[in-house]
Amino acid sequence: MKSISLNIEKALGAISKDSVYSQADQVNKFNHVLEDGTGKGSDYLGWLHLPSAITDAELTDIEQTAEVLRSKCDVVVAIGIGGSYLGTRAVVEALNNSFDALLTERTNPVMLYAGHNIGEDYLYELTNYLKGKQFGIINISKSGTTTEPALAFRLLKKQLEDAVGKEEAKHRIVAVTDASKGALRTLANQEGYKTFVIPDNVGGRFSVLTPVGLLPIAVAGISIRDLVAGAVAMEAQTGVDVPFEQNPSAIYAATRNALYQSGKKIEILANFHPKLHYIGEWWKQLFGESEGKEGKGIFNAAVDLTTDLHSMGQWIQEGERTIFETVISIEKPNHTVLIPTDEADLDGLNFLAGKHVDDVNKMAELGTQLAHVDGEVPNLKITLPLVNAYYIGELFYFFERACGMSGYLLGINPFDQPGVEAYKKNMFALLNKPGFEKESEAIKAKL
Ligand code: PA5
Repeated sequence: MKSISLNIEKALGAISKDSVYSQADQVNKFNHVLEDGTGKGSDYLGWLHLPSAITDAELTDIEQTAEVLRSKCDVVVAIGIGGSYLGTRAVVEALNNSFDALLTERTNPVMLYAGHNIGEDYLYELTNYLKGKQFGIINISKSGTTTEPALAFRLLKKQLEDAVGKEEAKHRIVAVTDASKGALRTLANQEGYKTFVIPDNVGGRFSVLTPVGLLPIAVAGISIRDLVAGAVAMEAQTGVDVPFEQNPSAIYAATRNALYQSGKKIEILANFHPKLHYIGEWWKQLFGESEGKEGKGIFNAAVDLTTDLHSMGQWIQEGERTIFETVISIEKPNHTVLIPTDEADLDGLNFLAGKHVDDVNKMAELGTQLAHVDGEVPNLKITLPLVNAYYIGELFYFFERACGMSGYLLGINPFDQPGVEAYKKNMFALLNKPGFEKESEAIKAKL
């Protein structure tokens, strides 16, 4: 079986090879710190051996529950935000038809998302769309108290119960949450929903390979066994016994660190396949929320190319020289589209006739890489042989392991997120939430 691979050659003009490889001992040490659980945030290392620890019985339980939802529902709404949302969407959008919601002949339920925003118009349109549809809900929240998903669930639960009755609604709602704490756990126990547990020691952004991601991904008709198998393979390739030069996550962490130390403060994750858009969103959360602390951390941005070459391309080529880019490159698309000959050739494209669309895309990718490197944007390349569940599983784990090592290289705790509480406190104070009276006074004085 092939594997995803990392190539850092085109970054080695901006930084020396030595600046990467001289970190070998330190990065290996931090890989051991992860393994031994002796670093900051060690209560949250459950993701480290999650792929190889998932049992057949756990996967079967998820698949059977997915099958119940698939058999009952034409539409399934996955409710969640951040780590309880982005991994699922990344996999589903990468692997399912781009026009899925518009297909009339279906083998899978339409997957929709809620609880990742507080948009009144969004929720109006969603609840309107669901009228008269056979729908189900997967409500995902590790804490079980996050406002955005709780709000969406309150609305959709009522709509479902009004439509099919409380008893049937019970069979169409699945909760993924903490084993014992939080409002969602209390509600699920009270209502008798089928539930799955998010382990205590797995943080939200590292939870895609728990039922958080696996259940909705299975509902979407994607093989969760392939996804997990890919992650298992990468777990082995990035373990503590693997030498630095053969460990892609270690090299990625060291290269990012060398670039950061050389003044490259922004990393852009670029793809040339629009279906990978949400992989970029998932990656932004993983690294942004893990590393942006104590006044440190690379700023993570993501672009879809060639689309964004016609917008952000100018900035990337000639803006402030504080960026580097990591490109997710796909060796072979899953489908074939050949460029036809046109007799009049008014668009002048006959020189491409007979070629694959991907031949053009590949040259755009190569041309972009050369232009950006010329423009002092160091380039890292991660190649996937194909876009499938197995390689996405590899990719997820590759990034997670790199993120752990990278956070320790920065000297921060990669597994907490104290900064995300600030807006919540203000929002609750502004909304006069009971218990926030003191904060309400303080914040109103600032208005
Ligand atoms: O990575 C994290 O911990 C966060 O982004 C959470 O995933 C996000 O805030 C959602 O939290 P919860 O699943 O508790 O609703």
